[in-house]
Amino acid sequence: MSRLAAGVVLVTAREDELGEGGPRAEDVGMTATAFMSVSLDPPLVLVSLREGSRMDDLLAEQPRWGVSVLSESQRHIAGRFAMKGRISDRLLFEDIPYVRGTESDAPLIGGALATLECETQQRVEAGDHTLVVGHVLTATVPSAEGGPLLYFKGRYRQMG
Ligand SMILES: Cc1cc2nc3c(=O)[nH]c(=O)nc-3n(C[C@H](O)[C@H](O)[C@H](O)COP(=O)(O)O)c2cc1C
Repeated sequence: MSRLAAGVVLVTAREDELGEGGPRAEDVGMTATAFMSVSLDPPLVLVSLREGSRMDDLLAEQPRWGVSVLSESQRHIAGRFAMKGRISDRLLFEDIPYVRGTESDAPLIGGALATLECETQQRVEAGDHTLVVGHVLTATVPSAEGGPLLYFKGRYRQMG
C-alpha cells in the first residue's frame, strides 16, 4: 500500500473531560491518509482509525469531528500529529492557525486546501482498525491556492 499515493489529512475533535476543577476540554488531532469520499447524496466520507489510538477512543464518544486536507506547506503539521505516545495535544495546536468548527467545535486548520465537519453515521470494526463513516455537515475551502501534501513510499511529497 506504500505504492498508493495518498493525500494527507488531519482529523480533529474536541475532547470534553471532567477534571478536578470542573469540566475541561482538549483539542486532539491525528494525521491520516486512510480517508476517502464514500457518497455524494447523502454526502459521506470515511476514515480508518487504528483500534486503540487516541482518536479511535475519542470518536467512540464524540460524534462530531473535523477533517483538514493539508497543503504542501503543512508537512510540519502532519509530522507533529503522527507522533506516537504523546500525552497531550494542547501544545501542538498552540502555534497553528485554526478556526473552531461551528457544528463540531473541532479545530479546522487555516490554510488547509479544504475542511469538513462530520457527524459519525456508522462505525465498522475491521481487523485492527475502525472504519468511521461520517455525514458531512459543513465544507469550506480556506485556501484555493497551493498544491496538496502527498504521502508515497513512506515519504511526504509534493506534486510536480
Ligand atoms: C502519513 C501518515 C498517515 C497516517 N495515516 C493513518 C490513518 O489513516 N489511520 C490511522 O489510524 N493512523 C494513521 N497514521 C498514524 C497516526 O497518525 C499515529 O499513529 C497517531 O497520531 C499516534 O497516536 P496514538 O499514540 O494514539 O497511536 C498515519 C501516520 C502517518 C505518518
